[in-house]
Amino acid sequence: MERVEGKVAFVTGAASGIGLGIARILVGAGIKVVLTDVEESALTHAHAEFTDSNVETMALPLDVRDRAAWVEAADAAESRFGNVHILCNNAGVASGGPVDQLTYDDWDWVLGVNLHGVINGITTFASRIKRHGEGGHIVNTSSILGHRAGANQAIYSASKYAVLAISEAAREDLAQYDIGVSALCPGLIDTNIITSARNRPEGLGSTNRVRDEAMVEQAKARFAQGLDPDRVGEMVLDGIRRNKAYIFTHTGLKRPIEERFKRILECFDGSEA
Ligand SMILES: NC(=O)c1ccc[n+]([C@@H]2O[C@H](COP(=O)([O-])OP(=O)(O)OC[C@H]3O[C@@H](n4cnc5c(N)ncnc54)[C@H](O)[C@@H]3O)[C@@H](O)[C@H]2O)c1
Repeated sequence: MERVEGKVAFVTGAASGIGLGIARILVGAGIKVVLTDVEESALTHAHAEFTDSNVETMALPLDVRDRAAWVEAADAAESRFGNVHILCNNAGVASGGPVDQLTYDDWDWVLGVNLHGVINGITTFASRIKRHGEGGHIVNTSSILGHRAGANQAIYSASKYAVLAISEAAREDLAQYDIGVSALCPGLIDTNIITSARNRPEGLGSTNRVRDEAMVEQAKARFAQGLDPDRVGEMVLDGIRRNKAYIFTHTGLKRPIEERFKRILECFDGSEA
């Protein structure tokens, strides 16, 4: 989508971090943005910064796991702004731990938000964008951990590999309707992801994770060294304009991906057929 001014975007997880960075940069490019998030107070606060903007925005509470709420939010966005062209499936949470210690609630929460949230967004909007015929773009937030997985990351990487697979397939399915698809694959970004559990529903609360304050503080300090989310927003806008299949944020992270592919290709040696 080379011409973006005047288009309409729908961004999930827009009250904080990368989602808010994306919203800021899209608004700056003249795109009307529907900011959505499950954390209503943070959403109201985030939306307030757009009050004086020349570009129209709106804020809608949305839990991306809730399919009926997606339809209501999409209808509300269309009745205010007309056709939606850009969907940023960005909302996400992080939780980890050794695979033998994860609970079903750990799995259901993370996959519910990170994977089913993306599935619900695409199912709600792909047909709407196709129907209006003006073209569009979908950005799904995966991660560098959607390309490689390590200790303690089974649950998070499972969700992000799946988002990558959906993005690659959707890109081929939707190209004929002039709908581009990008997988956003960030490295370390300075956001609030380390406190994801603030949005964990009570009904999915069973976990073996014991909150270790010292570790949380260490992790917060590490994330504070991460890239500014507004920079990620700029990369996303560039990815939309150039229809990039993958939007990477850190060149230095090429190496671990190369190493993973090398290990995979080496395992073909000695294959029979
Ligand atoms: N921060 C990083 O280093 C990093 C790296 C790679 C990928 N990511 C991904 O980036 C995305 C954004 O995360 P972030 O780092 O900006 O974290 P963040 O916590 O700052 O923002 C995430 C937002 O998602 C919202 N959210 C959580 N559960 C939700 C739900 N059920 N429905 C709707 N919204 C919900 C939160 O309220 C929050 O506003 C996530 O998909 C995350 O996995 C982050």
